[in-house]
Amino acid sequence: MKTLYAHRGMSSLAPENTLSAFKLCVDHQVHWFECDIDILHDGTIVVSHDSTLDRCTDRSGSLFELKRQALDSIDAGSWFSDEFIGERIPTLDQLIDLMNQYRLNANIEIKSCDSNADAARDLLSGLDKALERLDSQVEYIISSFNPMLLAEFKKIRPQARVACLFETHTLNDDWHVIMQWVGAEFIHPQNQGLTREQVQMFKAHGYKVNVWTVNAKDRANQLFNWGVDGIFTDVAQRFPKGRRMVGK
Ligand code: G3P
Ligand code: MG
Repeated sequence: MKTLYAHRGMSSLAPENTLSAFKLCVDHQVHWFECDIDILHDGTIVVSHDSTLDRCTDRSGSLFELKRQALDSIDAGSWFSDEFIGERIPTLDQLIDLMNQYRLNANIEIKSCDSNADAARDLLSGLDKALERLDSQVEYIISSFNPMLLAEFKKIRPQARVACLFETHTLNDDWHVIMQWVGAEFIHPQNQGLTREQVQMFKAHGYKVNVWTVNAKDRANQLFNWGVDGIFTDVAQRFPKGRRMVGK
């Protein structure tokens, strides 16, 4: 079974990593989305790709320096279009509520935690606590470019299914050592430059392979023919509904 992951939600139709972008998955029958999480210095876990507010809100500066209360007045939608004025940066708790409400599954990617060890520890324990509230029918995968965060999270929550993210230039001979050390079930390599031989090697080791970010249909079909299990895409709406299925 092949899986489409709506990358940062339906991010070509709504502002990325917002509740609107995730809700649109329901309308488009996309059962999995990807999102990014990070932490504020008051311990609130939020859904955001960037560590600054500059690109996706009406403010600028560091995300980490915010407190929960500030989220109520920051606009995270008008940069995308007027239709989304008033959209907020979601908290992880709001995300979990939405997943339960719509039975949406998520790949939750852990971001930088301001490169701060205390913040990272708080994020991992907060994530564990939030996942306790997830309905049993709703699935999740935890991913990161940082294997240390994933290994720590596996200690806290051994039942979590985790994925190591690799960029083309970080996919070296040690990839398998990293995967084993983390206890990862999934490998998430970058699309750019990925070869059939690499996909076959990952599959031969028994890993599930989800590739980011794939927006061209021809490339998606090529990857699926090579045995890739899923792709992250900004344009899930362009793929046939049969591809937008629930997958393992
Ligand atoms: O999780 C896949 C992909 O989201 C990783 O890259 O930068 O879009 O978070 P990025
Ligand atoms: Mg991501």
